[in-house]
Amino acid sequence: MKKIVIATIAAAAISSVAMAAVNTHACAGCHGAHFEKHALGKSKIVANMTHAEIATALKGYKAGTFGGPMKGIMKGQVARYSDADLDAVAQTIGK
Ligand code: HEC
Repeated sequence: MKKIVIATIAAAAISSVAMAAVNTHACAGCHGAHFEKHALGKSKIVANMTHAEIATALKGYKAGTFGGPMKGIMKGQVARYSDADLDAVAQTIGK
């Protein structure tokens, strides 16, 4: 019984860590595995953007202060993350 409780707590801890960081696999369907595509034929090629531009875009989509005609799609992608998470992931994509 004790083991089951510990295992449950450990599993919950692992899944909450996974939820906190931005999972870029979720982005690949639209942006490509290496952010090399125009998402839905509309976005810039994110791989060609700087880290700072990407951070501004992601936080702006979340706040509703950035974007083009399809910004609602991106808001849905980033709304659940903190600005710190969005800053962190922006350092891992683009140039
Ligand atoms: C359902 C498709 C879809 C998914 C999934 C998606 N995006 Fe996007 N993304 C778009 C579209 C469409 C745009 C252009 C929106 C607009 O009109 O501003 C965009 C724009 C962007 C931009 C700004 C590019 C520009 O044109 O200024 C960045 C950065 C970005 N996405 C990053 C991400 C990241 C990181 C993820 C994963 C967490 C993600 N996207 C997931 C469709 C998607």
